[in-house]
Amino acid sequence: MNDLPPLNRPAPIPTNLAVVPFTKRKAPHAAVDDLVAGRSVLVRDFYSSGLLVLAALRQRLPRIRPDDSYAEQRKSRATFREVSHRLLLQVRDHRLVVRKAPVIGWFSILYPDTDEFLIPFGQVQGLNSAWQWYRKGISIPVLPGKIFPFFGTYFPTRFEHLLLLDSWLNGYDGSRVSAIDVGVGSGVITYQLLNHGFAQVSATDSNPNAIYGMQADLTRRNITAKVQLFYGDLLADCNRKADLIVFNPPWLPSVSDSEGLDKAIYYDADLFPRFFAQAVDLLQPEGRVVLLFSNLAQINGLTESHPIAAEIARGGRFQKELMLESAVKAASPKTRRDQHWREAERVELWVLKPVQVGADDSQNP
Ligand SMILES: C[S@@+](CC[C@H](N)C(=O)[O-])C[C@H]1O[C@@H](n2cnc3c(N)ncnc32)[C@H](O)[C@@H]1O
Repeated sequence: MNDLPPLNRPAPIPTNLAVVPFTKRKAPHAAVDDLVAGRSVLVRDFYSSGLLVLAALRQRLPRIRPDDSYAEQRKSRATFREVSHRLLLQVRDHRLVVRKAPVIGWFSILYPDTDEFLIPFGQVQGLNSAWQWYRKGISIPVLPGKIFPFFGTYFPTRFEHLLLLDSWLNGYDGSRVSAIDVGVGSGVITYQLLNHGFAQVSATDSNPNAIYGMQADLTRRNITAKVQLFYGDLLADCNRKADLIVFNPPWLPSVSDSEGLDKAIYYDADLFPRFFAQAVDLLQPEGRVVLLFSNLAQINGLTESHPIAAEIARGGRFQKELMLESAVKAASPKTRRDQHWREAERVELWVLKPVQVGADDSQNP
């Protein structure tokens, strides 16, 4: 593993920030007035007092309606996040100061040298959920065991694309000496590749939390010799040619500069051309590039272009060998009305092979 920059974590806020204290003796709507007016509010007594203020804030801000467009839903969530992030909790000696608060192990892991600070209530909720997922693990249909996602690291919540990869790997009859997993996240695809008999996997990520978390996970599973980790952009410092280069990239074009976990979801315009330019140099002559993708961006009207189809149309580097599609299961009845676009959603598995030098490009689809 190469050197890592500091891990991504919610920024600690100095304790000398001017705050309005809040306890259950006050009405939650008074705290909401302060938050909406731009003042920071510090919950002083119970964790549940913060939940009361957040509930009152949800009542105050315009509700997200089921028929709102994808963009409107995003905007409403951003407004709620901005205002609610002024509602704060205090952390001292790696524990929340308020009573009846959850115990969250991330405080000592992510802030080893910070004794006392403030942190937005919403971010504490995120840390708490992430701690539960990390402690209990998450079952993934294509893996025999669980995965344990480190804080700030992407993990899948739907699995159709991974099932597609699994069924393709079942029929794969090429060499299994080495593979590269670009954007390892919580390791699902790396573990899939190992389970399918690949001897060595090089795994990269531009998110330091993913690499740090994977290092701990590989150590726990006692398989550090089989997986080499590389922090960095795309193929990073990988230097070993691979039989397979697998990438489950972000599926949506970015709307503004993305950071942290957003980078797992949104891609910049140059991400795919840069990936293909690097991949072509690290693939064995008989090797294949496998990409998982979805039509999510197209069906939501975010773009008409398809970055993988664009690479094939460009010619010169890769040609299409196969594209498999699978429908995405309808959302549960509870979320269905918010996500009507899901009915048209398809996940895709693309298998590309290098264009042989001197071959006639006009044969490309
Ligand atoms: C959709 S997630 C997939 C994670 C994991 N492979 C999986 O399938 O669950 C995309 C991953 O790619 C990583 N990523 C995004 N842009 C990257 C880049 N330029 N270089 C390396 N990794 C990148 C993200 O941090 C994230 O972990």
